[in-house]
Amino acid sequence: MMRTHWCGELRPQHIGQKVRLCGWASKIRDHGGVIFIDLRDRSGIVQTVFDPSACLREVHKLASEVGSEYVLLVEGEVVRRPPGTENPKLPTGEIEVRGERIEVLNESKPLPFPLTSDDADEMVRLKHRYLDLRRQRMQRILELRYKFTKAIRDFMDAEGFWEIETPILWKHTPEGAREFIVPSRLHPGKFYVLPQSPQLCKQLLMVAGVERYFQIARCFRDEDPRADRQLEFTQVDIEMSFITREDIFDLVERMLAYAFEHAVGIKVETPFARMSYSDAMERYGTDKPDLRFGMEIADITDIVANSSFQIFSQVASVGGKVKALNAVGCASFSRKDVSELTDIAKRAGAKGLATISVGESEIHSHVAKFLSDGELEAIFERLKATAGDLILIVADKGWLACTALGLLRNHIAAKLNLKRYGDWKFVWVVDFPLLQWDEEEGRYTPVHHPFTSPLPEDECLLIEGANSALPKGHPEHPLSKVRANAYDIVLNGYEIGGGSIRIHKRQLQEALFKAIDLPMEEAHQKFGFLLEAFEYGAPPHGGIALGLDRIIAIIADTENIREVIAFPKTSTGYDPMTGSPTPVSEQLLRDTHIRLSLED
Ligand code: AMO
Ligand code: AMP
Repeated sequence: MMRTHWCGELRPQHIGQKVRLCGWASKIRDHGGVIFIDLRDRSGIVQTVFDPSACLREVHKLASEVGSEYVLLVEGEVVRRPPGTENPKLPTGEIEVRGERIEVLNESKPLPFPLTSDDADEMVRLKHRYLDLRRQRMQRILELRYKFTKAIRDFMDAEGFWEIETPILWKHTPEGAREFIVPSRLHPGKFYVLPQSPQLCKQLLMVAGVERYFQIARCFRDEDPRADRQLEFTQVDIEMSFITREDIFDLVERMLAYAFEHAVGIKVETPFARMSYSDAMERYGTDKPDLRFGMEIADITDIVANSSFQIFSQVASVGGKVKALNAVGCASFSRKDVSELTDIAKRAGAKGLATISVGESEIHSHVAKFLSDGELEAIFERLKATAGDLILIVADKGWLACTALGLLRNHIAAKLNLKRYGDWKFVWVVDFPLLQWDEEEGRYTPVHHPFTSPLPEDECLLIEGANSALPKGHPEHPLSKVRANAYDIVLNGYEIGGGSIRIHKRQLQEALFKAIDLPMEEAHQKFGFLLEAFEYGAPPHGGIALGLDRIIAIIADTENIREVIAFPKTSTGYDPMTGSPTPVSEQLLRDTHIRLSLED
């Protein structure tokens, strides 16, 4: 080994020892001929000093020629820093290394951006990702990600799970997100696709008798990337046989508690909270509620249904809802703040936003004059509003009013700094609808995938649905009311995972295909291999997949999952470092039987 110690591990206990360090020159200062070089390796930074009165002349000369990010080997003695020059911000800040020998292992061109700041432009950082990753923050994230993944592997191993790899060259199954396709050279005109998830493979592994499968699995989805989405991302993918959803909840809670504790030293409370999908939508206006703060949405339709504010009474008379949120302590919001809130509500589809600002003795509101004292009092009471609060009201179709207020709730919480780091609020969201009505296609489609089972007590609704006189898509149609035996896990407002108990019996599967108007022949074309496998004694099974990138991003306190992926793509799916995607050679196109037709 070239080094005897890591830079970041040196402490007062090493004083007096001769050490040999390797790393990069992070910061260089010349104080009246004494040269200070902060030497950085993966473990941290230590200050090295080259004093012309204490080291050989040629050593000092070499040190004086070092540039930023030169690769160095430094040999010297660990000494205590002179009193008053300690740096409490550095773990090594009590000591320094008095340089006796220096070797330049490599030079570096001037950098395209400083590595000491977190503010460089993201495109420049991504173009030179290998430099960006040298930064301490990025190194800590890489380490965190590795440790978290390893903790999961350790835990799953102890629980008797086998990690099994599944194909990356997979088959086109036209459900869910758009797929990436890979042309086949040996089968002209045919394509593999990259898997959106190992879903079907893991179910086949249950038919294969594996019973407990997991995989740290790469998934590919040709979606528009967003802050919390990438074209390729990583799942902790799990499937088990002979279990109920309670077993999955218990396993995942213990797994996350273990990984948080062993990788990051964070104690997580179990069991996690649970909430039905309809409760989450009603109270938080989203299926991924952030439970770090209150501000729940209330229904005030009954209070204002007969009020003289026509927008409210009209909406109520056609079955709509009037929903309200108490933005606690926000009465002081400026006109500009309130117009920002209105814009957010409108972007969610709301036609407007009514506000009531509650003062000590008076209220400010465009709508209050249309409300009686009794109605106002009842609203204040339901929302527990007192002086200083700002009440936000949206009247619309129930789900739309809730969604708009849900967005406002998040916006206000961010503005008031209520989304505190270090508060870990996990919640299981359960009982999603199994089917959703697709207006365009004029049929029901599965909310998750077509192998998700209904709750056992709702199975009869699938059968009833086939004979119902109500028009399909009607909210009271039995098929609209079937709940799925599916669950999401949410952490601080992010969906970090989702899964379900699967259908494993032919009869139920056929009823589901019928409900989504998918003829059996077509189902066989799409998933024939799975349906056939299910004919040979498929065990009851279920599972879940957790979004690893999102979990790491939350722990690393960043909203952007690109920060926690070593080599990510931008929001247009571009890699500034390699320039990918790029054209390929004519030869390669010919080999794969592809002729381009690029139209603009
Ligand atoms: P689902 O599609 O809900 O379920 O994905 C599971 C979790 O993966 C994460 N995730 C993503 N993370 C980053 N970028 C993306 N583009 C992206 N898409 C999803 C989310 C999500 O909760 N096979 C099923 C699981 C199952 O039923 O067992 C599945 O893939 O955190
Ligand atoms: P308008 O008559 O459109 O000027 O609206 C009068 C007030 O009612 C304004 O403060 C609007 O923002 C508000 N408003 C309009 N539509 C709605 C709605 N659907 N829900 C809540 N408030 C609304």
